[in-house]
Parts: sequence; C-alpha cells; structure tokens
Amino acid sequence: MIILVISMKVKSGVNSLDKIIGGGIPKGDIVLVIGAPGAGKSIFGLHYVYQAVKNGKKAIYLTFELNKKILLKQAEGFKMDLNKYIDNNLLILREYDMTKTDVVEIYKDIKQLVETENPERIVIDSLSILSMYSEITAGMEIVRTLDMSPTNLHVSPEVLRRGAIVGLINMFRRTNVTALLIAEMPEGHHYLTRDTFSEFLCDDVIKLSRIESTGKRFVTIIKMRTSKHDLVPHKMDITNKGIVIK
Ligand SMILES: Nc1ncnc2c1ncn2[C@@H]1O[C@H](COP(=O)(O)OP(=O)(O)OP(=O)(O)O)[C@@H](O)[C@H]1O
Ligand SMILES: [Mg+2]
Repeated sequence: MIILVISMKVKSGVNSLDKIIGGGIPKGDIVLVIGAPGAGKSIFGLHYVYQAVKNGKKAIYLTFELNKKILLKQAEGFKMDLNKYIDNNLLILREYDMTKTDVVEIYKDIKQLVETENPERIVIDSLSILSMYSEITAGMEIVRTLDMSPTNLHVSPEVLRRGAIVGLINMFRRTNVTALLIAEMPEGHHYLTRDTFSEFLCDDVIKLSRIESTGKRFVTIIKMRTSKHDLVPHKMDITNKGIVIK
C-alpha cells in the first residue's frame, strides 16, 4: 500500500515566490520575513493577506508602526482593494500606538483575535517593535508585581523579551493560523534579527535584501523546515504590481 503524505500549502500571494518554495508556505507554519528598511517586508505582508481575502478567507494584519494609512495607500498602488475586504470584515487591519497602549493588552488582543476570528493567516508588523516594548513593559510589570525597586531588578530584560516572543509563537502554534512575522534585519550584524533568536524559533525564514551599490533587490529562502528549496538569492523587483521574483 502506498501512503501519500500531502502537506498542505498556503499561497504566499507572490506567485513567483511560490514557484521557488514548492507551491507555497506549509500550512500552520510560523514564517519570519526579515530585511533592512525599505526591503519590501510590509509589501510582502500585503500580498500575503490579500491572497487570503480575495479567496474568501479571513486574514489579520496588525501593525505597530502607525502606518495603516501608508499600508492602504501602498495596497491601492498595487491595485489591491483592501477597503472592500475591511468593510465586509474579511480583513482585520489594525494599528497600535505603542506609546499609548499597554503591551499586555496587545498580547491579549492578538490571542483573542486569533482564537475568535480563526483567521487563515496573520501578519505581525513588526515583531521587532512588539518585542522591544514587551521587554520594557514586562520588566515594569515584574517591578510592580514583586514590589522591587528597579535597582534590585536582577532579571535580564532579554529573558523577559524572549519569553514574550516564545509565548506568541506557541500561541499561534496551538491554532490553525499560518503566521507571518516581520522583523528588522540589523546591518553588519552576525545575527539575522535584533533579538538574535527568533530565526531559530520560526519554521521558515525569508530574507529580503538589496545591494546598495547596484540597487538590485533579492529574496533568499534561509530555511523552510519541511520543503525543498534552493539557497541562492533570487532577483526581486517591486513594480506597480508589487513584488515580482525573477
Ligand atoms: N508602487 C511602487 N513601485 C515600486 N516600488 C515601490 C512602490 N511602492 C513602494 N516601493 C518600494 O518599496 C519600498 C517600501 O517597501 P516596504 O514598505 O514593504 O518596506 P519595509 O521592508 O516594510 O520597510 P520598513 O522596515 O521601513 O517598514 C520603498 O522604499 C520603495 O523602494
Ligand atoms: Mg514596513
């Protein structure tokens, strides 16, 4: 008897990318998209949610950079009519002002949204900003909870921040969602992300890069735990149709 193991894939929203990753992203994966400023991370996130909503599937895009208006404008430029899907509640596009919102409430919000809306996919833009604030607030929470004065606080903020990211990823893993986490890639640094460990926790890592001297853009699949893929950089362009990989 032949047993076929069919792994389900979700299309990324960029057809030319799906071709180099064997048809799409393995369903349920946690995907990390890394890149320098202007690399195309948020645009990729837009393609990702648009792919779902135009096929009648629910998607969530959460931004912590106060750029909802810019995202809508970018999408419009690529002929993605997001407003239509926001209006019929297929797309939840929410921005958070990190300077005014309790980050613990944001985590509660994300959990509640994923559990009650049961989205096919979610974008976190960006994990770097969210985790940066998690560190600060979690640190303060401990100070408040344990009634310590900050000078007696010997718990490393790094440990607190890591705990928040691990918790978020584990929460996504308990649901059906295929999550795309956007992270800033520090330049001239040995690690792929500022936190130096989310690249190890996520199932797939997609790197968007740009060579300054030539202006050429590239996409590289750093890892995809359950798919065959090559390791070479593929030329990429951002056109009036969005991201295209050659
Ligand atoms: N209509 C367009 N046509 C061609 N290129 C575009 C268009 N719109 C945006 N771009 C390119 O995309 C870049 C912005 O992409 P995006 O917002 O996805 O970057 P990002 O990686 O999210 O950056 P950041 O880390 O700053 O948020 C711009 O700097 C520009 O080079
Ligand atoms: Mg962005």
